Amino acid sequence: MTQTLLRGRVLSFNHRPQDASDTDAYTYIEDGALLLSEGQIIASGDYADIAAQAPRAQTVDHRPHLLMAGFIDMHIHFPQMQVVASWGAQLLDWLNNYTFPTEADYGDAQHSRAMARRFCDLLTDHGTTTAVAFCSVHKSSAEALFSEASSRNMRMIAGKTMMDRNAAPAVHDTPQSSYDDSKALVADWHDTGRLSYAITPRFAITSSPEQLEVARALVQENPTCFVQTHLSENHAEIEETKRLYPDARDYLDIYESYGLLGPRTMLGHAIHLEPREIAALAETGSHPVFCPTSNLFLGSGLFDEAGLRERGITSGIATDIGGGTSYSMLQTLNESYKILQLQNQSLHALQAFDWITRGNAAVLGMSDRIGTLEAGTEADIVVLDAHATPAMALRMERAETLEEELFILQMMGDDRAIVQTYVAGAPQKA
Ligand code: GUN
Ligand code: ZN
Repeated sequence: MTQTLLRGRVLSFNHRPQDASDTDAYTYIEDGALLLSEGQIIASGDYADIAAQAPRAQTVDHRPHLLMAGFIDMHIHFPQMQVVASWGAQLLDWLNNYTFPTEADYGDAQHSRAMARRFCDLLTDHGTTTAVAFCSVHKSSAEALFSEASSRNMRMIAGKTMMDRNAAPAVHDTPQSSYDDSKALVADWHDTGRLSYAITPRFAITSSPEQLEVARALVQENPTCFVQTHLSENHAEIEETKRLYPDARDYLDIYESYGLLGPRTMLGHAIHLEPREIAALAETGSHPVFCPTSNLFLGSGLFDEAGLRERGITSGIATDIGGGTSYSMLQTLNESYKILQLQNQSLHALQAFDWITRGNAAVLGMSDRIGTLEAGTEADIVVLDAHATPAMALRMERAETLEEELFILQMMGDDRAIVQTYVAGAPQKA
């Protein structure tokens, strides 16, 4: 059994840091090591101890770089890689003019397979080792993504989008076909290897009441699957949603009344919420997902992170490619910092890195498997260099603490700061 020993500065989070002085929240080892075997981290600690324990392990010396758990992207659209940077529209026009036509191409299985390779490459180039992804309406797009992730032993949570109206014929399914396709995909992929299925009604505008009824049946029949959709991203979207579902108390009530809420449910955006909706999120344990670069790019609004957390709601954070503009969770943290600044909320660098690793894993109920560097977890690891660009190196000349280094990575870092990404112990970068 081959063992690999990664040497470097090791940082892993134990819980969400209250503030910069909350040293219990994380473990930092200046000369640390991770011992990997068969896709798992089997030991983690001081280099001297780990090296003595495994004298025959193959050592990869990553010093002086920082080893952290691989990043988790909680909301990304696989068929929107070629939608990124589409000019001038807010949500509904952006969907109609750019997004639906691009997603229509994923009806071609060969295109889906080629794009799935590019997608997984881009994720790992940016340090992301787990993604929660929307596929297109076509079953073949989900098959392509699951198959590609499976061949890399990459953790992937994904689903075929359910959408039976208000888009374009090329991206419409029907209640029955969405049930049949989702059911078959669950049977083929859910809980196989590192894959999980997410039941994926796109949002209320593109799902008829009959289709949401079908989504309810899928959730009831498959209680270990995740659920993902969109909620209250944009004012025009909310108006149109209320027009289509006039009996609903509010936007969230639509999903609630079809039994779609709970701790395995992730709701992209969740910006413009009414008090009743916030109470229902807290009561059901559902999770909003903050998508900062998208919320700025589409002019959607400011996510109230602190307000939701005060109510005991735990939110994920994500790129939302292709409304989002960067695959980098570092750039996602950069823009999240600014959105929270506009609301007098402060996101500390330690909290930020906890969020994109352990925090997102906890939202998924997977922090025993991913998101930390503890022994017994899966060997998804990122190697970070805060000197990656001349501007970062110059700034680092005046950095004295770990917190400062992390904040420089958060504000200035992107894929250039990712030295290596390990997926289940295997290096992904050439
Ligand atoms: N709401 C429904 N579909 C989408 C999508 O693809 N992107 C974003 N940002 N919002 C949506
Ligand atoms: Zn989205």
